[in-house]
Amino acid sequence: MPKTRRVAVYLDKGGTGKTTSAAHLGAALDAGGHDVLLVDLAGKQGDLAKELGVDDQLQADIANEDDFPNVATTMGNRWGDVAEMVGTDEAVDRLVYPTETGVDLIPAHPDLDGLDADLGNVDDVDDRYSRFRRFLDDYVEPLDRWDVVILDMPGLANNITYNGLWAAQNVVTPVLMGSFEYSQAQRLQEDLEKIRSNYGEDVRLQMLIPNQFDRRTNLHAEKLAAFQDEFGELLAPEYVVDSQQIRTATEEGQTLFDIPDDELLKTGTDARDAFATNAAELYNRLTDD
Ligand SMILES: Nc1ncnc2c1ncn2[C@@H]1O[C@H](COP(=O)(O)OP(=O)(O)OP(=O)(O)O)[C@@H](O)[C@H]1O
Ligand SMILES: [Mg+2]
Repeated sequence: MPKTRRVAVYLDKGGTGKTTSAAHLGAALDAGGHDVLLVDLAGKQGDLAKELGVDDQLQADIANEDDFPNVATTMGNRWGDVAEMVGTDEAVDRLVYPTETGVDLIPAHPDLDGLDADLGNVDDVDDRYSRFRRFLDDYVEPLDRWDVVILDMPGLANNITYNGLWAAQNVVTPVLMGSFEYSQAQRLQEDLEKIRSNYGEDVRLQMLIPNQFDRRTNLHAEKLAAFQDEFGELLAPEYVVDSQQIRTATEEGQTLFDIPDDELLKTGTDARDAFATNAAELYNRLTDD
């Protein structure tokens, strides 16, 4: 059993708040005294690097070709050689960007695009999906630098997603209060059940976080009640309200945890506190297992 608590923020649907939740749960755990490593497996435009204010640095490194190894390398065929060549600690160090929020980040990289196809060519299914787990087990765990690892996942199921699920074994899922999201969450449970029966990987949904909750509409209250009926204790203790400050903070490369108390509006404070409560509860759930 790994010493670090690992969790993947995942739902195979775009735009439900996965990246926002990964950043804020990480920031909350950091504020709570944990050492947190965030990993962006979502690719795209390196959302977490932007949200955590290190995107300029990352883009400069990419432009200067100072971007090897990167997150995609960890799942490539030559990771073992690379690590041996530069040294194990150094190899991991080169992947990690410290952030002002306090968490450390392994950002996404354009090479993730090609990696999915490369993984698809790996014949041995066990090897194909276990690469990121091996990276965490063999290279990250021994460093003893972090006690929580949070993976920001793509909003779809591909080979990289499976690597994330295999590595984390635990899933936290932000859900919007719509009817489509409700069936999506049910489907996620079915997908994880299939992973358990087909591959013997015990990937478990640990927490559903109602996100962008609007207290002014009855519809959201009704949806929340339906979620509570169906998912019971899987639901997070607190919903996260819709907060414009999340969007503006994100644009400025910050989380709500980086904003001084007296500059937070009511919804911003509520959203931040909800993430803090949910992060503490998530940590407990990961610990109890
Ligand atoms: N509680 C919230 N209040 C207001 N805006 C939010 C909240 N949560 C997320 N958002 C906004 O919603 C948008 C989508 O969020 P985010 O990028 O975290 O979703 P995602 O699931 O990671 O999307 P993708 O699947 O594209 O990676 C972003 O603009 C984000 O700032
Ligand atoms: Mg995202």
